[in-house]
Amino acid sequence: MSAQEHAGTDWSNPLRDAQDRRLPRIAGPCGLVIFGVTGDLSRKKLMPAIYDLANRGLLPPGFALVGFARRDWENQDFAQVVYDAVKEHARTPFRDEVWKQLAEGFRFVPGEFGDQAAFEKLRETIDELDRLRGTNGNHAFYLSVPPKFFPGVVRQLKESGLAEGGENTWRRVIIEKPFGHDLASAKELNKVVNDVFAPRSVFRIDHYLGKETVQNILALRFANEMYEPIWNRNYVDHVQITMAEDIGIGGRAGYYDGIGAARDVIQNHLLQLMALTAMEEPTSFDADAIFTEKVKVLSAVQLPEDLGAHTVRGQYAKGWQGGEKVIGFLDEDGIAKDSITDTYAAIKLEIDTRRWAGVPFYLRTGKRLGRRVTEIAVVFQRAPHLPFTATMTEELGQNALVIRVQPDEGVTVRFGSKVPGTSMEVRDVSMDFQYGEAFTESSPEAYERLILDVLLGDPPLFPRLEEVELGWQILDPIEEYWASHGKPAQYEAGTWGPAEADEMLDRDGRCWRRP
Ligand code: BG6
Repeated sequence: MSAQEHAGTDWSNPLRDAQDRRLPRIAGPCGLVIFGVTGDLSRKKLMPAIYDLANRGLLPPGFALVGFARRDWENQDFAQVVYDAVKEHARTPFRDEVWKQLAEGFRFVPGEFGDQAAFEKLRETIDELDRLRGTNGNHAFYLSVPPKFFPGVVRQLKESGLAEGGENTWRRVIIEKPFGHDLASAKELNKVVNDVFAPRSVFRIDHYLGKETVQNILALRFANEMYEPIWNRNYVDHVQITMAEDIGIGGRAGYYDGIGAARDVIQNHLLQLMALTAMEEPTSFDADAIFTEKVKVLSAVQLPEDLGAHTVRGQYAKGWQGGEKVIGFLDEDGIAKDSITDTYAAIKLEIDTRRWAGVPFYLRTGKRLGRRVTEIAVVFQRAPHLPFTATMTEELGQNALVIRVQPDEGVTVRFGSKVPGTSMEVRDVSMDFQYGEAFTESSPEAYERLILDVLLGDPPLFPRLEEVELGWQILDPIEEYWASHGKPAQYEAGTWGPAEADEMLDRDGRCWRRP
């Protein structure tokens, strides 16, 4: 680990920041070790992302990828698995010459996560790669493993001397969510990680931050003049942040049961979206500056006093989706018949700052909902006075600015317009910006962006410890309340969640958007 990484708090790099960010950012000599390489995430996201980065010319020519897992594989078996994953999931076209060069740097180390000898073997493999591929002692360790294995792997990295490189080399650790399952466990886990890695060498993944549309929230707000003056309690009525999925839990029962929707995505993805939507302008785009502003928002969050009236959790029952009959959550393989795990969660939060006092932020997520969509809708107050009769404005709603995170990435502004004709009638219309139409450049997949940032040591898109802890601090009282208040409400698969969620907004005189 370099002296600079040890310094802990000095996150900015003036030299690099001064460079024109439009130049391709190419990783220097380095390698990546993936623990849990046989898992879904690795196959569907990590391996394809690495190939795509190589294909775009953003990895060094001698890049090395080491897989570590409990499998009796040779290097070539591992290469075959990566090949299949790339063929199935990569976004860029397959090119033989890129593949060949990349595959020369593949190694596989079989072993259990607690096996000292396997970590010894890993160290030898890395030393060999440094010699043969010129990875120069720079290695990142990706913990794509169930959280219960995090502490063991991190300790083994320390004990086998892998956590520290030599002079002028770096070692970094990448940790997938969930980072704990409540505040206490997150703190515990953090102690273990901090004991081994300096804060600036720890990269916690929240893949939503790697999404192009999420990064655009700050560009939209702070590169323009027209939104910021009205982005506050004087004009905004409320904000709705929705992450809806049409899929069920698939083969993830082991992870999901007992975790549920709120811990799975509200604690991280949705609170991050809220922080970016609500934060003040950062003094720069440095990790430090963005972190400072996000933490202010998360620290100012207020929970409603009556959690029963302003939070809802649900569980999908059997229903129809895309013309097909689907089973309910309790009938999914591996789910306990009496499980009270939430597959839907909706909560109301307020942010106690001058800018947002009194403006509700409604966050909701669910599996097996009407369709897959993630969006942030900033809904504005009604005009204080309308010089029209009530009949003329029957079809006029509230103005809204909707950031469409996915799919159909873009931004929509909803406003009233005169309906063509001889009478005065005003109706809602939309003005649309679509990435696909406005840009010829393609967006990298979130994991591509994030893996590259780790290899470059570029931290702005990674939540820090305090953000994770604040996330749990917000969610813990809600989870506690739910745990002692019966079962989740049922909703039919393919609908927009339980009726209780509609009642929750109805109580505030509002309604959910049907995106
Ligand atoms: C993950 C959650 O973080 O995000 C999953 O664990 C969820 O449950 C996934 O399905 C959704 O990601 P995306 O990028 O498809 O919206």
